[in-house]
Amino acid sequence: MSTIEKSAVELLAQRIAGDMAGGLGMILVHIGEQTGLFVALAQGSASSQELADRAGLAERYVREWASAMAAAGYILYDPADARFSLSPEQETVFASEGNSYYAPPFSDMLVSIAKDESLVVDAFRTGEGIPWGDHNACLFCSTERLTSQTVLPQLIQKWLPQVHIDLNCEGSVPRIVDIGCGRGKAAIAMAEAFPHASVYGLDLHQPSVERARDAAASAGLSNAHFIAAPAEDTQEKDFDLAVIIDALHDMGDPVAVAAKVRSILKPEGRFLVIEPYAADRLEDNFTLGGRMGYAASTCICTPASLSRPGRAALGAQAGYARLSDVLKRAGFNKIRAIQNEPTNIVIEAVA
Ligand SMILES: C[S@@+](CC[C@H](N)C(=O)[O-])C[C@H]1O[C@@H](n2cnc3c(N)ncnc32)[C@H](O)[C@@H]1O
Repeated sequence: MSTIEKSAVELLAQRIAGDMAGGLGMILVHIGEQTGLFVALAQGSASSQELADRAGLAERYVREWASAMAAAGYILYDPADARFSLSPEQETVFASEGNSYYAPPFSDMLVSIAKDESLVVDAFRTGEGIPWGDHNACLFCSTERLTSQTVLPQLIQKWLPQVHIDLNCEGSVPRIVDIGCGRGKAAIAMAEAFPHASVYGLDLHQPSVERARDAAASAGLSNAHFIAAPAEDTQEKDFDLAVIIDALHDMGDPVAVAAKVRSILKPEGRFLVIEPYAADRLEDNFTLGGRMGYAASTCICTPASLSRPGRAALGAQAGYARLSDVLKRAGFNKIRAIQNEPTNIVIEAVA
């Protein structure tokens, strides 16, 4: 029997304590956004009573929350006058929705996974999948917000300009499809960025598609259309560009979906695949991103794929080689990386 290295146990226990504090802190971040406390604090330094008054909340709860947030270093505390405040950097992270560092959407994901933990425990026992739509709404909200703040600015300003296709050509109507569009933020952003284009969003989750339709109508867009159906079944075709954002690995059969995409693209049409960054080998994903990616994949992405015909369960941590292999098997011959780190893998594929 091997002897136990006490210092190594202590080191691991310290790390668990740090992770525990982080997880609890993120739950309080979620509460902070839900109750409007961060926005209230962004108005200026406050005692717990002033903060509670600003947010219309009970002071005793607010004092305990603010104490925890100050202990975490998420907000400032001045012991001289017992007042709490936000530094400009803390305001960016906790009170300025939309920027890529804004933390509450990450807390949505944590809370959503915790809420559905019993579904995952059951799935481990039965081996069955968990359909995307069986999760609580916090997940759809988190996905929408994380894609909006981390992916969309890069999609429009950085990645699409590198795709070999002219989407601004007057006199023609480029056809674009977003596969697994969720609540439609990317399709809407493309419809706005390319007003001559006709943009379709496909998703099998009816409530997300309804939300996308409402959002497009509110934005006054007549060139964004949403269809609630599995991508495999779509009748739409002749697309110049297909994009898939953070969804290929959720498909029951990513090769079949990619082959379907190939069949609905025009000759020389482009397929833009955007996935979370991962290396191909497990041992190269022993990183912060790998830890979060595998955890989300265990509770959300792998069960989603296992709930669909094909049950391929690619997982959210497939690297460039494994993603390229999916595309090659689907009949795409020209595959190139537009980006291969640090946050996303972005691949352009042509048949
Ligand atoms: C992680 S979410 C990403 C949503 C969206 N692309 C975004 O980034 O906000 C994955 C989406 O893929 C959809 N999905 C999974 N399998 C699908 C399929 N076979 N056909 C269409 N949509 C699918 C799910 O319903 C879900 O909305």
